[in-house]
Amino acid sequence: MNTADKLARYVLPTYSRFSVSPVRGEGTLLWDAQGNRYLDFCSGLATCTLGHGDNALSRAIARQAGELIHCCNLYQIDKQAELAECLVEECLELQGRVFFSNSGAESNDGLVKLARRFGKLGSGGSDESRHEIITFHQSFHGRTLGGIAATAQSKVKEGFDPLLPGFYHSPLNDLDSLASTIGPDTCAIMLEPIQGEGGIHLATPEFLRGVQELCQKNDLLLLLDEVQCGLGRTGDMAGWRSIEPNLTPDAVSWAKGLGGGFPVGAFWISDRLTSQNKPLFELLGAGSHGSTFGGSPLACSAALAVLREVIDKNLPQRAIEHGQKIRMTIEGWQHHALTEVRGKGLLLGVGLHAGAFEAPEGTPASIYLSTELAKAGLLAPPAGPDTVRLMPPLTVSNEEIHESLEIFRHTLDRVCH
Ligand SMILES: Cc1ncc(COP(=O)(O)O)c(C=O)c1O
Repeated sequence: MNTADKLARYVLPTYSRFSVSPVRGEGTLLWDAQGNRYLDFCSGLATCTLGHGDNALSRAIARQAGELIHCCNLYQIDKQAELAECLVEECLELQGRVFFSNSGAESNDGLVKLARRFGKLGSGGSDESRHEIITFHQSFHGRTLGGIAATAQSKVKEGFDPLLPGFYHSPLNDLDSLASTIGPDTCAIMLEPIQGEGGIHLATPEFLRGVQELCQKNDLLLLLDEVQCGLGRTGDMAGWRSIEPNLTPDAVSWAKGLGGGFPVGAFWISDRLTSQNKPLFELLGAGSHGSTFGGSPLACSAALAVLREVIDKNLPQRAIEHGQKIRMTIEGWQHHALTEVRGKGLLLGVGLHAGAFEAPEGTPASIYLSTELAKAGLLAPPAGPDTVRLMPPLTVSNEEIHESLEIFRHTLDRVCH
């Protein structure tokens, strides 16, 4: 049985997979068992920050694996302390405390638990408990029960009801709708500054400022899901600052790029004071939350190696420059099959005119184009039916960008009317 047959025979069919089967990687490149070479502009869905086989990351993992892989959170974990310090002092430059999880969905569940505890405090002198959270159309916050309730895209919720109650969804970049969705039971607003899975949609600076004002006015938590857009990919260690620098969230979640491919997630909670005159992070005190694997020495060593490389080599700046190059080149084509390029840094989405593609009946343009690009040696994943994403490792070279854009252009010409 080949890999595809074995996967079909033994693994739950939850994923629709492309036929590519990589077995080895180096930098931006992947190879399959037959020696076919691919430029990886998927990066494990915005995860392989430093590309494949990075020396600093693989050495840190090997060294730590030889010293101490796991130690539970009953004990003091030095690498966890170091990583939290780096996230607070160098990535966010905002004071607060970090919790370590293993994935993006888990991190967002932590934010939801924070919001629930915050809601219990009541508001404006009233001790009436609040529990509702507003998220945005096209959002994606993960696949746990908390994550699917928070996610607005209905496809993730189908058949899993009754869902965790208390989530309302509002259109992105529409402050009036948002203001009218806020009710007496609302306690938080949660958003991706750049929506990833929903098709690379950016919150505007005005919208972000307006959300912050509404949060202040209504005593709501501002929760940012930076699982996909955080930690450098958009051009800033704090993803939202690549859109609006003057925003002060109450809590932020991360995963994906944090470990460069090693599974590790985290969330941060601000030390700002609540109505009870206590730091916000104290709402999740001893015994309120936990994870056996979260913050293990091995996961934290991997994440530290990634963050050191990203910060010390100023990869966010490179992401900005490379992103501009990609955007300008594609826009310069003025190709009739493309609508626009959206995104920031190296988190880019190329919009497609569905009608311009000779896709088989029932196949969305994005999946058709991603399949054809893969055949030509470029991995660029779809996001929704009419967007293809370009999100290479932050270490991608000029030559690799040039070659990828050549493949993109030639493939477009081959598969469009
Ligand atoms: C913005 C965002 N939040 C949460 C998640 C869920 O992360 P994970 O798959 O690590 O649980 C994702 C995954 O794509 C994401 O893009």
